[in-house]
Amino acid sequence: MKCLAVLVVLLASAHQAASFFNFLSLRQITHDGQSAKFPCKIVNATFVDCRNRGLLNIPSGIPKTTQILLVSHNRISKIDTSLTGLVNLRLLNLSHNSVSKLERGYFADQKQLEHLYLSKNQINKIPEDAFASFTKLKTLDLSWQNNNLRRGFPEFLIPINRTLTTLLLEKTMIKTADFGTHLILRSLKVLNLAANGITSLGRNDFQALAGSQLQVLDLSYNSIENVDTDTLDPFHGVGTLDLTHSFAKLPPLPSLLANVSAAVSSAEIHKLDLRSLSLKNLTSSMFIGLGDSTLEELDLSLNDITGLDDDSFGPNLAHLKVLQLYNNSITTISLNALAGLTALESLYMGSNSLKEIEPGTFKHNTQLLTLNLNDNLIASLSQGGPFQGLINLQRLYLSKNKISQTLTGDEFQDLGDLTDLDLSGSKLLKDRHIRLKMDSFKTLSKLTKLNLKKVWLSNIDIVPSPFAGLLELRFLDLSNNNMDNFHQDTFSSLGRLETLYLDHNHFDNLWHPPNPQEESPSMFLRKLVSLRKLDLSFNGFQNVPIGAFHDLGHLKTLHLSNNKLSEISGKALDGLKELEYLDLHKNLINVVNKTMLTPILKTLKILYICGNPFSCGCEQEWFRDFIDDTQVTIGNLSLCLCASPPGMRNKPLMSFHPEDLNCDHKLPLKDWIGIGVASFSFLLLACILVVYRWKVYYIYLVVRANYRRSKRHNGYEKVFDYDAFISYSGADEEWVAEKLIPELETGEEPFRLCHHGRDFEPGKEIVDNIIESVDSSRRTICVLSQSYLESNWCSFERRVTMSRLFINYQDALILVLLEDLPPKKLSKYDHIHRAIKKKTYLKWPANADERAVFWQRLKDVLNEDRTPDRYEVIV
Ligand SMILES: *[C@@H]1O[C@H](CO)[C@@H](O)[C@H](O)[C@H]1NC(C)=O
Ligand SMILES: *[C@@H]1O[C@H](CO)[C@@H](O)[C@H](O)[C@H]1NC(C)=O
Ligand SMILES: *[C@@H]1O[C@H](CO)[C@@H](O)[C@H](O)[C@H]1NC(C)=O
Ligand SMILES: *[C@@H]1O[C@H](CO)[C@@H](O)[C@H](O)[C@H]1NC(C)=O
Ligand SMILES: *[C@@H]1O[C@H](CO)[C@@H](O)[C@H](O)[C@H]1NC(C)=O
Ligand SMILES: *[C@@H]1O[C@H](CO)[C@@H](O)[C@H](O)[C@H]1NC(C)=O
Ligand SMILES: *[C@@H]1O[C@H](CO)[C@@H](O)[C@H](O)[C@H]1NC(C)=O
Ligand SMILES: *[C@@H]1O[C@H](CO)[C@@H](O)[C@H](O)[C@H]1NC(C)=O
Repeated sequence: MKCLAVLVVLLASAHQAASFFNFLSLRQITHDGQSAKFPCKIVNATFVDCRNRGLLNIPSGIPKTTQILLVSHNRISKIDTSLTGLVNLRLLNLSHNSVSKLERGYFADQKQLEHLYLSKNQINKIPEDAFASFTKLKTLDLSWQNNNLRRGFPEFLIPINRTLTTLLLEKTMIKTADFGTHLILRSLKVLNLAANGITSLGRNDFQALAGSQLQVLDLSYNSIENVDTDTLDPFHGVGTLDLTHSFAKLPPLPSLLANVSAAVSSAEIHKLDLRSLSLKNLTSSMFIGLGDSTLEELDLSLNDITGLDDDSFGPNLAHLKVLQLYNNSITTISLNALAGLTALESLYMGSNSLKEIEPGTFKHNTQLLTLNLNDNLIASLSQGGPFQGLINLQRLYLSKNKISQTLTGDEFQDLGDLTDLDLSGSKLLKDRHIRLKMDSFKTLSKLTKLNLKKVWLSNIDIVPSPFAGLLELRFLDLSNNNMDNFHQDTFSSLGRLETLYLDHNHFDNLWHPPNPQEESPSMFLRKLVSLRKLDLSFNGFQNVPIGAFHDLGHLKTLHLSNNKLSEISGKALDGLKELEYLDLHKNLINVVNKTMLTPILKTLKILYICGNPFSCGCEQEWFRDFIDDTQVTIGNLSLCLCASPPGMRNKPLMSFHPEDLNCDHKLPLKDWIGIGVASFSFLLLACILVVYRWKVYYIYLVVRANYRRSKRHNGYEKVFDYDAFISYSGADEEWVAEKLIPELETGEEPFRLCHHGRDFEPGKEIVDNIIESVDSSRRTICVLSQSYLESNWCSFERRVTMSRLFINYQDALILVLLEDLPPKKLSKYDHIHRAIKKKTYLKWPANADERAVFWQRLKDVLNEDRTPDRYEVIV
């Protein structure tokens, strides 16, 4: 069977290899065929990809059905008629080429074109009617020309005035936002005029956009010195105005910003981007122009703002919902700085230098939902409640600060609606801690996510648990704390917890108590019935006690990597009915056996288990076969190495093949053949022995007899006790007893006869009796008949007699034929047959008259002296 399987596999792979080579050569042909004519990739009927092929022209032969044509990153300088006929084109990307001119007629056939990308070329002139054939063009990207586009601008936009929604003119050196007074771009949604050296935004510049619903106006990276307060009047309801790094002087004068805010106000802009303007000092005068504007989002990130005082925002940002102040240098927030921001929902103040939050700082911002204070220098949260009034706050981010204190719970008063609290990633060194008390989170009953990663949490072995009231908690991160202990019931009320990180601690003693006689392993995961993900890596665990995961029937992901586990019993993993991802890499596991993985195999999808000191011997056979057969993805399999035996050290686990070791004592093929041959021979021998048992037995007996006899005689002359030994079959007893013996033992010269009925010594083995009798008789008379030939003892006697010839050179056999024996039968007894053929035998005559002759001849033979008489001897 094994041999057959191997054969099948060999044949199959040969077939595969053959078809693979066929496939390769076919590919070769088609590829070559293509590259001669058409250099691009036809992805499908509508999509042709000619990117990055060093093309000097748009290639001919593009299928007419093409809707998307990418020819960017080439060296195309002329378009001419190469697009003729491509009537279905909807998107054409010609970015990163060397096109310097667009002429009328280039796009004559592209009535359906919707998106035209021409960025990063060298276009310096666009005729008025270059785009005249487009009836649907929505996107026109002319950004980043090495030349300036002023020639023809903005007249070339007139033909596409009704359809254009996105106009990208970044870095085109047009130096102006003046679109003239002839053009109306009513559909425009995105206008990018970044990096154009624009110095002023005048009253009439944006007339062309009157009535449009602009969503993004990007004026970043210009050198603006003047902004007329009514420059944005033509717009209505603009989404975002991006003025990042857009002013000639940094920081811009407050009066310029005041004009900006006035312009913003009239255009009803929603988001104003004022990043990277080197602003140091915010004053309400900057925002005074906003009036009662609808501005909802203000981004002041990446400035140099050092503090927020009561005058920073003034009363004009009452609609502001989002305020970004990332990456400034804010050290203080005065108590009323944020007082005007009554609609504020999100305040991002990450990456500043705040040292403390005074109670009441946010008391006017009752609408606040998200407060991000990550990456500051806050050292403590005051007992008075730094977050007073934030009754709607849902997310409070305080990671990467320097908080070192015992949390009493008063810090978070008013935060009854909080769902996310992040205190992770302390910047502190080891000797400072966050300590918890049972009341630490008492006000946070709606908390769903609590992150206490790396806060040097000293100990949570408190009863009742600080987490006891967090019945809604879904996510808890306690990793990287170097903790070594907590109480068995610490998590027992967290029935809704879905994610628990406990990695990078020293919880090994919980499962491996230093004093096992007194303590049993802590079942700290009991009751976490909703848990989906659990990280226990980097803890030094040496074992997983049975029942540890008993309640985790919904766990999908389990990290146990970088521990000291040398084995996990199957029972320990027993409760994990839905586990899909198991990470056991970098442990001390030598052997992965079936009992360990069986409980989770039904659901497991991914297993990470490399980095263990695998033993690559027979004991690993199950796992090695498992890898070959399983549907489970073994992660990073190529990194799995053997650690033992010495010969396999640091060799890939996949190079270990248990078949080579003959593990189950399964024998290789050649041994099977050997065994087959041996057992066949044995059977054959047994058959032979059974069929020819008597022959074999004779041979044995004859050999034994000869041996004994030669020992007895030692070659010297023997005096015979009997004249003849009579060998006969039981069936002929009557003839022997009534005819032969009386005739020979009586008469003038009686012969001394020996026959088994009378002369065999009782108690002596029959074989010995026969030998002795034959030996002590001068002759042996064989009384031949059918039954004599069939009798084995007779045959033996005959042979013993004959073998005497070889010992003593004595002729001993006299054959007496009692009845006619069919020659067929006789032929089996070779020597008798020969004797009969030579007529060297005496035949018992049926006719009574002839019997006297018979007796006389028999007696003559018996009377013959010891000289050998060859004619009677049958050899
Ligand atoms: C052609 O390929 C593109 C890119 O893979 C794909 O987005 C598009 O749906 C495909 N079109 C057809 C008709 O298969
Ligand atoms: C056009 O090509 C440029 C350059 O390869 C690329 O950056 C840009 O994303 C492309 N745009 C589209 C819509 O394919
Ligand atoms: C808009 O374009 C159409 C078609 O080219 C033209 O007839 C019309 O005058 C243009 N209108 C303006 C205001 O540019
Ligand atoms: C502010 O706007 C007014 C009125 O439009 C204008 O006169 C003044 O020059 C502008 N100031 C600056 C600095 O742009
Ligand atoms: C901030 O601006 C105000 C008013 O323009 C000025 O009085 C104050 O000195 C400025 N403070 C700093 C630190 O520049
Ligand atoms: C903000 O500042 C932090 C540190 O001060 C820096 O790592 C980060 O890159 C900055 N972010 C941006 C967008 O510049
Ligand atoms: C599998 O490993 C466990 C734990 O090492 C051991 O108790 C068990 O006997 C092993 N089973 C087999 C079949 O080797
Ligand atoms: C898998 O290998 C990659 C590359 O070496 C490594 O970055 C990653 O951490 C490994 N993942 C696991 C779970 O071992």
